[in-house]
Amino acid sequence: MTRLENDTLIRALLRQPTPYTPVWLMRQAGRYLPEYNATRARAGSFLALAKSPDLATEVTLQPLERFPLDAAIVFSDILTIPDAMGLGLGFAEGEGPRFERPLREEREIRALTVPDPQRQLRYVCDTIAQVRKALAGRIPVIGFCGSPFTLACYMVEGAGNRTFPAVRTMLHDRPDLLHRILEINCRAVIAYLDAQIEAGAQAVMVFDTWGGTLTEAEYREYSLAYMQRIVAGIRRERDGERVPSILFTKGGGAWLESIAASGCDAVSIDWTVNIGAARARVGHRVALQGNLDPEVLLRGPSAVRDGVAAVLAGFGAGCGHVFNLGHGVMQGTPPENVAALVEAVHQLSPAYH
Ligand code: CP3
Repeated sequence: MTRLENDTLIRALLRQPTPYTPVWLMRQAGRYLPEYNATRARAGSFLALAKSPDLATEVTLQPLERFPLDAAIVFSDILTIPDAMGLGLGFAEGEGPRFERPLREEREIRALTVPDPQRQLRYVCDTIAQVRKALAGRIPVIGFCGSPFTLACYMVEGAGNRTFPAVRTMLHDRPDLLHRILEINCRAVIAYLDAQIEAGAQAVMVFDTWGGTLTEAEYREYSLAYMQRIVAGIRRERDGERVPSILFTKGGGAWLESIAASGCDAVSIDWTVNIGAARARVGHRVALQGNLDPEVLLRGPSAVRDGVAAVLAGFGAGCGHVFNLGHGVMQGTPPENVAALVEAVHQLSPAYH
């Protein structure tokens, strides 16, 4: 077991003291980096890139060569699970994800099974193992998955859509069928995260991009309940080291107390929440990750520095904060603004520790 040279991320997630606030960014590898676009062009498509462990390792490492980030996140996608279930994932140019065989009929839902991550998702595990090897203990590697509800949104709808009308119809007309999908997704995610931890992921994050569109009662029943089972069901340790878990419900600011009570180690918050108020509500239970508005990165280095200063001051003194954005890095972000963000976090945060 290689000890980490820089374990600030793991320590912050476990609310242990660190000399400064660790920082990584959702979508830190992606289309805002010219070198990513070059590798993607070589791969031929996003999916070919994600499914090649060599190329996925290359793009995972790209942002780390530019910026002194405190964590790597494996390059993959949340939709690998429904793809492994046989729904036929494709990405039409400029259109986002689309499934060839969305779940429309009861018999298709009854036939859904949990994929074996060691077989159908082997490429993700191989990428994690390769990234670990390339990093040689410099910084930790984060594994991830989508929440059962967010996966169900894409599986039932067949494509991305802000309102997901087919899922809402199923929720009201056939809640039993939606629960059936969520049950399979939940078991699939537990097996998948365990396989990622086995392959070397040192922390894991669940992305619940669409849970925040539900009512509070629906959120508890259709999203949070399953994430709670995931947090309770996955491996907690590997090689004697704790593997912290992070939950992110975009738009979940109203339910922070419930999310924090799920048993996760950290809650990631979007930009709509005041991080100081969030800390007052839940900071005695979990670490907080976030929450700079990703749009600030479109404005310029001095706006970025001011934004970073405001988030750090908002959280205040003490441990338990992982700096991140409130959502992923946007496509048109100038890389030099990301450099300014990472530098500002590293320069300004020691004063709070
Ligand atoms: O953070 C990272 O650097 C790791 C990589 C990562 C990707 N997707 C790569 C990606 C992560 C963590 C994800 C998660 C993901 N994927 C989520 C949850 C987080 C969120 O954004 O809310 C969701 C909902 C998806 C589904 C998905 N994948 C969509 C909607 C799209 C298209 C959106 C777009 O920007 O076009 C993708 C494709 C995707 N996943 C890209 C990347 C870098 C762009 C693909 C390309 O190169 O064309």
